[in-house]
Amino acid sequence: MREDIVRAAQFIPADSAVVCLTGAGVSAESGVPTFRDSQTGLWSRFDAEELATPEGFKRDPGLVWRWYMWRLEQLEAASPNLGHHALAELARLCEGFLLVTQNVDDLHEQAGSVDVLHLHGSLFSFRCASCAAPHHLTAEQRGADLPPACGVCSELVRPDVVWFGESLPWDAVEEAATASHRCSVMLVVGTSGLVYPASQLPLVARQAGATVIDVNPEPGPISSIADVFLQGKSGEVLPALVRAVADRRASA
Ligand code: APR
Repeated sequence: MREDIVRAAQFIPADSAVVCLTGAGVSAESGVPTFRDSQTGLWSRFDAEELATPEGFKRDPGLVWRWYMWRLEQLEAASPNLGHHALAELARLCEGFLLVTQNVDDLHEQAGSVDVLHLHGSLFSFRCASCAAPHHLTAEQRGADLPPACGVCSELVRPDVVWFGESLPWDAVEEAATASHRCSVMLVVGTSGLVYPASQLPLVARQAGATVIDVNPEPGPISSIADVFLQGKSGEVLPALVRAVADRRASA
């Protein structure tokens, strides 16, 4: 692994334009279950169609609401891990650095990352399912069995996250795709690479000539197209990668 880390660091000179795409795996060591890891995956206990879809919400808004309130409690109990902090440090070592995440937690921001692009929204913001008016959630509404009513149109409030079958925020996708076309390095961390369109960003970068580095304990669709596959947990691999990048700068 050490040689791979040193090799990966060679692809990240000071003037590099880096796009980093993260998935649920970067938050796994913070105790936040990923979606597809069998033993703890969120979906393993629930049917995704039951929960993270407009149809599921329409069918049983209370079930979906309680599930997201449970996830919100989990996220609030979590702290950034060494992987989140390493990415915040790496951004400071690179001329251009854009962090694009599929995660709806705020652990990147808590670790000091700025201008984080959330492709799938955030579990810390809420909006009306009908008129899309933003909604400030009260503590009482957090504990309720049913979602609150919108203060503008009285329809149901929902989490401001992207559900299966819904389109992503076009401005975030546009910015992520443009940056992926232009970057010199695409660093992919903790994603199964199974969900479109985020899963296409590493391919876009590669086809545009960027070096793709994948950080994941398991091989998968991304490692199969990566120039460097750093097999391991992000909380261990990323600090080592940042140290190797910093060492190269110091000895340059
Ligand atoms: N460090 C790095 N990667 C890890 C770690 C870790 N400690 N632990 C697990 N992983 C990897 C797993 O090997 C897997 O490849 O993280 C990945 C998690 O994959 P998913 O659970 O599919 O999560 P993600 O890729 O983010 O899912 C994408 O799908 O369910 C939807 O909207 C949801 O944003 C999510 C999207």
